[in-house]
Amino acid sequence: MNEKILKLMERGSKVLGCKYAIMGGAMTWISESNLTSALSNAGLFGVLASGAMDGDLLKNELIETQKKTDKNFGVNIIVMNPKIHDLIDVCGEKKVSHVILAGGIPDKSIIDKIHSYGSQVIAFAPALAIAKRLFKQNVDALVIEGHEAGGHVGALSTLVLIQDILLNLKEYPIFVAGGILRGEIVASLLKLGAAGCQLGTVFACCKESTAHENFKKAFLRASGRDAVLPVQLDKRFNILPVRALRNVASDEFVEKQREVLEKFNKGEIVADNGKLSLEHFWAGSLRRAVKEGDTERGSLMSGQIVELVKEELSIQEIINRILTEAENFLNSNS
Ligand SMILES: Cc1cc2nc3c(=O)[nH]c(=O)nc-3n(C[C@H](O)[C@H](O)[C@H](O)COP(=O)(O)O)c2cc1C
Repeated sequence: MNEKILKLMERGSKVLGCKYAIMGGAMTWISESNLTSALSNAGLFGVLASGAMDGDLLKNELIETQKKTDKNFGVNIIVMNPKIHDLIDVCGEKKVSHVILAGGIPDKSIIDKIHSYGSQVIAFAPALAIAKRLFKQNVDALVIEGHEAGGHVGALSTLVLIQDILLNLKEYPIFVAGGILRGEIVASLLKLGAAGCQLGTVFACCKESTAHENFKKAFLRASGRDAVLPVQLDKRFNILPVRALRNVASDEFVEKQREVLEKFNKGEIVADNGKLSLEHFWAGSLRRAVKEGDTERGSLMSGQIVELVKEELSIQEIINRILTEAENFLNSNS
C-alpha cells in the first residue's frame, strides 16, 4: 500500500529524517509544541514557529516539544528578527535537527553558524538566482512558496516558481509550498523533481491544532476568495504582503500602515524600523485571533487553499487522504 508515493518521497524524507516528505509549515502562535510534535509523531515534519519568541521562550517550547516527541522537527526563525543569534544558540543547545530560515535571505555567516551546531539549514528562495546562491552557500534544502500561501507571501505563484526554480535545480532538494492539499498535486510535484511539499493552512485548523475554536470555524466557513492581501499605500514603502481572511483587522492594518508611513515621511523612523513595527502589528493581531478567538479584530492568516478545507480533520486523516489520492493517481497513470 502507498508504495509508489512513499518511493517518490524517499529523497525528501531522508533530508528531513521523517517518514513522509511533508512539512507542516511553521505558523506563529499555532505551531507550538502540541501541533509540532503531533505532526512529527504522525510521520510528517513538524516545524516550531519562533516568530513571537525570544530565546527563553523558545527554549521552554523546545523542552516541551522534545518531551512530546523523539522524532525530528524543525525550528522556523525569521531572518529579520533582531534576536536571531540568541534563537540560533538555543537551537544549537537543544540540538535541533533542522533550522528553517524564513522572512528574508540569510547571510552566509548565519548558515555557517547553524551548521557549526550540527543542524541542517533550510531557507526560502523567491527567485532562481537566489536559490542558486543559497545552494552555493551550502543550505541543505530550500522551500519555494507561492503567492497563494497563507501568511507572508512573495510575488510569484507556486506554478511560476516551480517552472523557474524547481525545474532548473532538480539536483537539489526543494520543497514546494503554497496552495497544496490534494495527493494528486503532491505526487505530480514529486514526479517533477520536488523533494516534498510544505502545507500550512490545512494544519491551522486540524484537530491537533490548539488554535481557538472561533479561528478554526472561520477557516472552515471561508472561501478561498476571502484570503486576500492588504493594500499597499505607498510604492516607496514596500510592505511585506500578508495573506489573511478579510475582516476588521485588514482595515486596521491599513490604518497602521498610514501611521508608520507618516512617521517615515517625517524622518522620525527608518524604513526597517517601520517594517518591524508592521510585523509586530501582525504578530499581535494573529495572537488575538489564534489565542483569544477574536476573529474580527484578530488576523486570520490563511492561504487560498482554505477553499478546500471544509472539516476539522486529524493529522492522520489528512495524511491518509493525501497518500490515498496520490497512490490512486500514480496507479492510474502508470
Ligand atoms: C496562520 C499562518 C501563520 C503563518 N506563520 C508563518 C511563520 O511564522 N513563519 C513562516 O515561515 N511561515 C508562516 N506561514 C506560512 C506557512 O508556514 C506555510 O508555508 C504556508 O501556509 C503554506 O501554504 P498554504 O497556506 O497554502 O498551505 C504561516 C501561514 C499561516 C496560514
